[in-house]
Amino acid sequence: MRRVIVTGGGTGMGRAIAEMFVSGGDEVYVLGRRREPLERVAAAHPGGRVVPLPVDLTDEEAVLAVAERLSEAPVDVLVNNAGGIIKENPVDTRGLFDLYRRTIDANLLSAMMLTQALWPAFRRPGGRVVNISSIAAHRGGGDAYAAAKAGLCGWGIDLARRGGPDGITVNTLTPGYVQDTEFFTEEGRSSRHDTLAAETMVGRAGTPDDIAAVVGFLASPEASWTTGQVLGVNGGALPGH
Ligand SMILES: NC(=O)c1ccc[n+]([C@@H]2O[C@H](COP(=O)([O-])OP(=O)(O)OC[C@H]3O[C@@H](n4cnc5c(N)ncnc54)[C@H](OP(=O)(O)O)[C@@H]3O)[C@@H](O)[C@H]2O)c1
Repeated sequence: MRRVIVTGGGTGMGRAIAEMFVSGGDEVYVLGRRREPLERVAAAHPGGRVVPLPVDLTDEEAVLAVAERLSEAPVDVLVNNAGGIIKENPVDTRGLFDLYRRTIDANLLSAMMLTQALWPAFRRPGGRVVNISSIAAHRGGGDAYAAAKAGLCGWGIDLARRGGPDGITVNTLTPGYVQDTEFFTEEGRSSRHDTLAAETMVGRAGTPDDIAAVVGFLASPEASWTTGQVLGVNGGALPGH
């Protein structure tokens, strides 16, 4: 039984990723700000193998505290999935500065801080880090969101270099449009659903399970020679990425 940590594990892709690991017999810690979605995942899997840990990953002290708790035993897998677009329209430049900062905190620094705080606890060899970036890292989208997601890709490569000698792998996914999450709306769909689905080669939007399947491989022992990669999972919407 591996010890797996999934940030943003209460909804959307994070929930599907958490459930994929639980179904495989792992113990999964799900992190997010709201307690209720995390507890819903735990309730769907009685037996205590899903542990809800409410935390705001942009809060440095909270990150250190949760990492201390999680470091009580070796960490096998960390999936840095938490993030999203902050839906606000600032009225002035100072408001825009604040939005930039919060977007980069939520999508980039959250992952960097938690990973660094957990780093000594990773299983050596065998530890796995998977970052969830976005297709926006390659083609833009969301302004500071695209910048933050591109940052994850570069940071992930340096982290892979650091982990290599210890047998820890680090890879970053750049998903395209995935429905059935809270990313766009509570209903789980973009207002551009048909256009985004038609952009793909397979003619459909992605699902959280499509992403979980790739995370499952990257977290497996068989993926020990796959590291330092940025991998597009987008139904062919952006070929070669
Ligand atoms: N859906 C897409 O089309 C798409 C495409 C490419 C990339 N992505 C990325 O995929 C990841 C998962 O998104 P999703 O589509 O599954 O949407 P989602 O359902 O909105 O999931 C995002 C999760 O992140 C958590 N989160 C956000 N800020 C946090 C913070 N400061 N501290 C702790 N947890 C935080 C949220 O929980 P709380 O609100 O409770 O904190 C939520 O569970 C995100 O990083 C997103 O940017 C999504």
